[in-house]
Amino acid sequence: MPSNELLDKGVKRIEWARTHMPVLAKIRERMVKEQAFEGLKVGMALHTEAKTAVLALTIQEAGAEVRLTGCNPLSTDDSVALALNKKYGLETYAKRGQSQKDYYISLNRVLDMKPDYVIDDGADLIFLLHTKRKELLPTVKGGNEETTTGVMRIRAMAQEGSLKFPVMSVNDAYMKYMFDNRYGTGQSTMDGIMAATNLVIAGKNFVVAGYGWCGKGITMRAKGMGADVTVCEVDPIRAIEARLDGFAVKPIAEALKEADMVVSATGCKDVVTAKHLRNVKDGCVLANSGHFDNEISKAGLRELSKKRRKVRDSVHEYQLKNGKRVYLLADGRLVNLAAGQGHPAEIMDMSFAIQALCLEYMAFSARSLEPDVYDVPDHIDEQVARIKLKTMGLEIDQLSDSQKKYMREWREGT
Ligand code: ADE
Repeated sequence: MPSNELLDKGVKRIEWARTHMPVLAKIRERMVKEQAFEGLKVGMALHTEAKTAVLALTIQEAGAEVRLTGCNPLSTDDSVALALNKKYGLETYAKRGQSQKDYYISLNRVLDMKPDYVIDDGADLIFLLHTKRKELLPTVKGGNEETTTGVMRIRAMAQEGSLKFPVMSVNDAYMKYMFDNRYGTGQSTMDGIMAATNLVIAGKNFVVAGYGWCGKGITMRAKGMGADVTVCEVDPIRAIEARLDGFAVKPIAEALKEADMVVSATGCKDVVTAKHLRNVKDGCVLANSGHFDNEISKAGLRELSKKRRKVRDSVHEYQLKNGKRVYLLADGRLVNLAAGQGHPAEIMDMSFAIQALCLEYMAFSARSLEPDVYDVPDHIDEQVARIKLKTMGLEIDQLSDSQKKYMREWREGT
């Protein structure tokens, strides 16, 4: 695509996202007026697509110097990256299909700005700061982490005493995981699978590994589209929950024998391995919705295959030595962003409103936090919820004073 057309596409995509992100718009209005981030340098590593652009521009318009790069080599929308660089003057280094080496060069370019704050998705930027770019640590005042996998890594750093600045666990805010992880991942994962394969979901044996919030969202949507859904879990409580929610529950080795489509959403590695792949049905479709591309073993697929070829955008066919064919989507990277368009704008609106408010909280209310992982304060969750409700045109009831008093009482009948 000629670069002027690509630029126009990127600008329009950002405009579309902005139009559908009214919560962040409301917060931006105040932050821009107050120039809330004046003088701050903010380095960001997030999936570089239209909704992320709206967050980055919000922070820039509120006075900060911002640099942005991707947090996954296959999730970048090049039209958006171009628009950020050329139209909005926001330095962006992400490029779709970047090699691992270029991916790290880009992360380093973000860090070269000597950021005061970092916003990360998956913790690669924070990891880099604590390993190869340690010299920058003394001036980093804090960070936000967007996703489950990133929070797990940062908690491990904190537990070991290696974390050198405070990090807000944006992922663990109610207004993030209840909607982004569940409804966002549910919809965008199906979007990615359908865009990549153009196959029907109804009537398929659909296996979901992991029944966390993301897995719950995916099963809910797959069921709604008529699939016969089986859940694989390692957590006994979640397994019971999945069963009572109406799904079959099986060990993955068993579930995969019958599977037409498999989605991993665990945040753990080696979920689908050569051992399982030996027994899959001909034509089985494999997709991952977890942050890293290590849930479905590509080494296992190579080991079992005699041939690999690209058969559609985002679909590789592995011809197994046992004569069966297996289709891996998006090279095992998060299918919702690499083959789909990421979460819907109205969902990222809530997640990114929390990001903006957490950055403000870190920069102004919580300057003296020790290095550790922090929950998002309830008042931020509540603020985002109230604005969202209003943008949805919904009203709710309020407790009367006597009801409030009753809720605080323990004596019978008072
Ligand atoms: N768009 C931007 N960031 C995203 C994320 N973490 N998940 C899905 N879509 C996104």
